[in-house]
Amino acid sequence: MDVQKIMVVGSGQMGSGIAQVCAQAGYEVILHDINQEAVDKGMAGIYGRLTKQVAKGKMTEEEKTSTINRMSSSTNLEDGSTCDVVIEAVIENMETKKSIFRQLDEITPKDTILATNTSSLPITEIASVTGRPEKVIGMHFMNPVPVMKLVEVIRGLATSDETYKTIYTIARNLNKEPVEVNDFPGFVSNRILIPMINEAIYALYEGVASKEAIDSVMKLGMNHPMGPLTLADMIGLDTCLFIMETLFEGLGDDKYRPCPLLRKYVSAGWLGRKTGRGFYVYK
Ligand code: CAA
Repeated sequence: MDVQKIMVVGSGQMGSGIAQVCAQAGYEVILHDINQEAVDKGMAGIYGRLTKQVAKGKMTEEEKTSTINRMSSSTNLEDGSTCDVVIEAVIENMETKKSIFRQLDEITPKDTILATNTSSLPITEIASVTGRPEKVIGMHFMNPVPVMKLVEVIRGLATSDETYKTIYTIARNLNKEPVEVNDFPGFVSNRILIPMINEAIYALYEGVASKEAIDSVMKLGMNHPMGPLTLADMIGLDTCLFIMETLFEGLGDDKYRPCPLLRKYVSAGWLGRKTGRGFYVYK
């Protein structure tokens, strides 16, 4: 399938990063969100990151301009009617995702591929609300999207080989490394990463060591670029809790129980970088 135009639904941290890398790779991109303020914020973030790349000499002013010119913004999902692929990157809520996929199934041409950037929800269940489950697939980017090489490509039960190949090719065109994964809770990335973060939170909760010490052990001892508690703050503690709950419920094993300290921080609204406070305080 020859893909020219991509719509990204959701202009937050992940959606705006996905839209940016798609436009940089030469695709025509529509960045969608439900209100103009949210889309403007996403577009401003992209503009700022591209400007930094120009300042560092990693991109020319002309490349920045042509990237921006390939992008448009939208608050109307109907604009997806002209797109070959839609990548959904909204909040991790099954009902919200199902509602968007139901609408996209009505709006988009029958050949349009509907991809989701969900970090742990079942692709098969999202696909089930559409009349085209063979064209529904997981395309899980890592944060920060412009930097991280991995895209987990997740096949739902009915995803066709053609859909898989198209998404694989797009990921390669974005200069990413696609890795094929099957549809199980948390896929591979978050089934391994988030329990590790949860265990680091247990270590803090049980007084094994201070937050700084836990992060130092994993950075200096395991060569992780960030300690697990710093990473949790970057991902968002609400997202970490949501993924642990998805693993706990989906796999039915006690070893995935979320740490009570993680729950407490989320209830307090200490969600990490985005709220200015998580395990660490951000100015
Ligand atoms: N957006 C765009 N670019 C960014 C960025 C961002 N948010 N943050 C950093 N960068 C860029 C910097 O501009 C810099 O680029 P240049 O090399 O062109 O100068 C480069 O990344 C390195 O940044 P820094 O030197 O400032 O800092 P660093 O060396 O510590 O790298 C990092 C920052 C890339 C975030 C690194 O710490 C890292 O890899 N951390 C781990 C990230 C990770 O594990 N991500 C996965 C999260 S889990 C997930 O996403 C899945 C999920 O579903 C929850």
